[in-house]
Amino acid sequence: MKKKVSIIGAGNVGASLAQLLVYSGICDVVLFDIVNGVPQGKALDLSEACPLWGSSINITGTNDYKDTAGSDVIVITAGLARKPGMSRDDLLSANAKVVADVAKNTCQLSRDAIFIVVTNPMDVMAQVTLKVTGFNPDMIIGMGGILDSARFRTFVAWELGIAPEDVEALVMGGHGDQMVPMPRFTTAKGISITHLISEDRINKLIERTKNGGAEIVGLLKTGSAFYAPSASTFQMVKSVILDEKRLLPCSAYLNGQYGLKGYYAGVPVILGKKGVEKIIELPLNEQEKSAFEKSFEAVKGLVQNLNTMGG
Ligand code: APR
Repeated sequence: MKKKVSIIGAGNVGASLAQLLVYSGICDVVLFDIVNGVPQGKALDLSEACPLWGSSINITGTNDYKDTAGSDVIVITAGLARKPGMSRDDLLSANAKVVADVAKNTCQLSRDAIFIVVTNPMDVMAQVTLKVTGFNPDMIIGMGGILDSARFRTFVAWELGIAPEDVEALVMGGHGDQMVPMPRFTTAKGISITHLISEDRINKLIERTKNGGAEIVGLLKTGSAFYAPSASTFQMVKSVILDEKRLLPCSAYLNGQYGLKGYYAGVPVILGKKGVEKIIELPLNEQEKSAFEKSFEAVKGLVQNLNTMGG
């Protein structure tokens, strides 16, 4: 039987992810949105692309949560996207309400699903999903680190004039302004970039990475990035439903790893059919450790703000 992936939110990120899943043919897809007609229209359009792509999966567009029942993976992309001048954190209370509603409605119908949370501020939204579902924390994972790392990989590849796929990068911490790109763990075919690029230039690439989402919001003016976010989410969905055990930077619930506890933050994880199967602990130096802890504290602060607001 084919695996079933439900995408909640048929906007830019959700629909682009649906396209990647349908094209790859690895699972059936349910596209849900509160707006009537949009998920149905996009699903029909994608179904009509199947003969061209040689894909035989089923795609359903719906406004009824019942159609998501028995999903193996639920991806949450519902909510507001950023506009120019907004940080991801500005979306906090509006998106928390949406995500809580989505989590409540979906978890009752898919008791074994792995949740992948994309809606921003993502680390906080993963915590909201955890609280509402009451699921095991390993079943709820946030998408941010793959995207931030892909941005860093791109800028490093341009700097070195090499193919982007030959660059591996690691960005840890919360998926916000305090994210922590890790040059020591960023390599071009295994060679640390600290041997290849000057410190001054690396710092410029780090700044561009941290500002990567805002740079795109500034250009688009009416929304935020969606091609790289959906491609990043696709890697996570694929690793879960095919039990690939990919080693990917994702937002995971820390329970003592890195000496931190009780909140989500971006760390390297092994991702398989059970969700986060292992969190990899790296030997961070003092500077890296302090930046990571600062980023963790920023996520914690947002969760506490939300709790104060009654979210
Ligand atoms: N239930 C279901 N869908 C909802 C709800 C809800 N309660 N509220 C809003 N939506 C839908 C909207 O109707 C819209 O189709 O969520 C979709 C969001 O799509 P876009 O506005 O295109 O936003 P997108 O670019 O896809 O970003 C979605 O992902 O990357 C993050 O920061 C981004 O938080 C944002 C999210």
